[in-house]
Amino acid sequence: MSPSTLGRRPLVSGNWKMNLDHLEAIHAARDLGLRLQASDVASVDVSVHPPFTDIRSVQSVLEGEGIPVALGAQNCAIEDSGAFTGEVSPVMLAKLHVEYVLVGHSERRMHFHETDAIVAAKLRAVLRNGMVPVFCVGETVDERDIGLTQERLTAQVGAALTGVPTEAVASMVIAYEPVWAIGTGQAATPEDAQEACAWIRGVVASVSGEEAATTLRIQYGGSVKADNTESLMACPDVDGLLVGGASLDAAGFTEIVRAASRTGR
Ligand code: PGA
Repeated sequence: MSPSTLGRRPLVSGNWKMNLDHLEAIHAARDLGLRLQASDVASVDVSVHPPFTDIRSVQSVLEGEGIPVALGAQNCAIEDSGAFTGEVSPVMLAKLHVEYVLVGHSERRMHFHETDAIVAAKLRAVLRNGMVPVFCVGETVDERDIGLTQERLTAQVGAALTGVPTEAVASMVIAYEPVWAIGTGQAATPEDAQEACAWIRGVVASVSGEEAATTLRIQYGGSVKADNTESLMACPDVDGLLVGGASLDAAGFTEIVRAASRTGR
């Protein structure tokens, strides 16, 4: 284990996106509970991020059956309450014992026009309500092709973290998700993932200080499967995985958690 990884407990998160109605979600959570052994989660944290309409049902299953999986959400409003038709408040999520909230996923940035400023405000809303943001960053294929990956990551991280207290940054999770790897079956190589995650950690160090940078967890996301988990988790700056499509199948997701825990991080 490299000294830089010491103390960072990996987090494997399942982003269900807009899949599974509440009955299917109950089934998926139970299935995961039946498969996951105590040894699988002895050294790895696990979260699932269902759609909003599923969260209450999944909460009941996880808590009622003592399943060692944290509840997550995929998004939240900036405001705590008020005239914001169609939005879901971070206060409401915290009340349902949601622990982790995805912020700034590339699908939100792309399809719902979430700017760096909106993402920064959501990140603060999550922290204000005592939850952990899983703050997503990543370059598009066009940015990558013209060599702008590091510049884009620096801009995204700087825009969101500037002004956030150091202790709050230390408690956060950043998910490096290159947009070209999401849902394409073409994951980043471990070398590329490591380079980007190390770069992100360096940017966090310059914005929020060394201590926050060495404490905060950085996940890799984008076409993660059981068979690429170990090589990605072997990277010293990759502290976990954000899994989309492969998290919908409890058996497959359990394999990913198991492979992650085998890396001994
Ligand atoms: P994928 O999605 O694993 O299906 O590529 C990852 C994500 O968008 O979080």
